[in-house]
Amino acid sequence: MKRCLSLAAKSKPHVHPNPMVGSVIVYEDRIIGEGFHTAYGQPHAEVEAIRSVQDANLLKNSILYVNLEPCSHVGKTPPCADLIIKHRIPRVVIANTDPHEKVAGKGIAKLMNAGIDVTTGVLSQEGRALNRAFFTLHEKKRPYVLLKWAETSDGFIGRPKDDTTSSRQISTSLTARYTHQLRAESGAILVGTTTAIRDNPGLTTRHAEGRNPIRVVLDLKSQIPASHQLFNTEADTLIIGPKREGVNASFLEPDTDNLLQSVLHHLYTKGVSQLLVEGGAKVLQQFIDASLWDEAITIKAQVKWNAGVEAPKLAKQAMNSFSLGSDQVLMYRNS
Ligand SMILES: NC(=O)c1ccc[n+]([C@@H]2O[C@H](COP(=O)([O-])OP(=O)(O)OC[C@H]3O[C@@H](n4cnc5c(N)ncnc54)[C@H](OP(=O)(O)O)[C@@H]3O)[C@@H](O)[C@H]2O)c1
Repeated sequence: MKRCLSLAAKSKPHVHPNPMVGSVIVYEDRIIGEGFHTAYGQPHAEVEAIRSVQDANLLKNSILYVNLEPCSHVGKTPPCADLIIKHRIPRVVIANTDPHEKVAGKGIAKLMNAGIDVTTGVLSQEGRALNRAFFTLHEKKRPYVLLKWAETSDGFIGRPKDDTTSSRQISTSLTARYTHQLRAESGAILVGTTTAIRDNPGLTTRHAEGRNPIRVVLDLKSQIPASHQLFNTEADTLIIGPKREGVNASFLEPDTDNLLQSVLHHLYTKGVSQLLVEGGAKVLQQFIDASLWDEAITIKAQVKWNAGVEAPKLAKQAMNSFSLGSDQVLMYRNS
């Protein structure tokens, strides 16, 4: 199962909103096949593992390990449970039951009804941790919310309002590559109005391999200039605000009493399993105060600014940290 999980992790960042799944086939204590779900819409891990076995006759005496319950419904690919039954694989070992309502135990029931010996719950915590965004999407009916910001050594994330000349760069290019990796793993990225206007960010994945997330921007008073990068054609943009003509974006009429929840619900209906919130301070603080976040990543740089927009306040101990060049990356969990 450890091998399944490390195979599964190879698919990051190509499969979201699908889960990361790896599968291993063992015959007489020897691995004879393995595979993983390489990209959204591509064959599932069990299909890849079965296909990789050279002598298909061995399957009827083998054990198939997989970190997520085999599917039982026809989606973009045929049901994996049927394939396992067809090859008469006698034993299946699973880490996690699939929370997706189309599966949710039906895959396991199908295998058991066919006389297959099924074991579940093997390395289930590790499996949940790997697919935390997928589990959050289906269990909490909202995307996994990942907050991210960079702050100076004296606690600022932005220059003072009237300072338009100084460099806004806080972290290094090495850290920029890391944060673009987070973008590639996210289905959507959200920023507030001030950040959109002042920084004119592109919010695309340029320094890492992977897809561009949907750019979600709060603009309740239609203040962002139409010439800003957010409206270019490099990625989709969703404006939370009134509809306006002449810009390349879709719109969500804001529910001002329930803004964050309504945005999260909308993204859930679009199948976005991870939302990266990149700032600024006001927006990040709202997610923190509403406890509507799952993970926060802060980058503590060495530069000192003496003044500016203060970083959000997070009353948590970091659960993990590492160095990226001269920057320190701190990771927090909201549970
Ligand atoms: N270091 C980093 O990682 C990082 C990342 C991003 C941004 N930044 C910096 O952060 C600074 C901007 O931060 P900020 O806190 O001033 O602004 P912000 O969070 O980017 O945007 C705040 C504005 O968004 C709108 N907004 C936010 N929540 C809203 C809600 N619930 N309902 C309606 N409107 C809402 C409001 O605009 P209106 O008041 O106009 O309606 C609000 O003033 C910039 O200097 C930027 O460079 C730093």
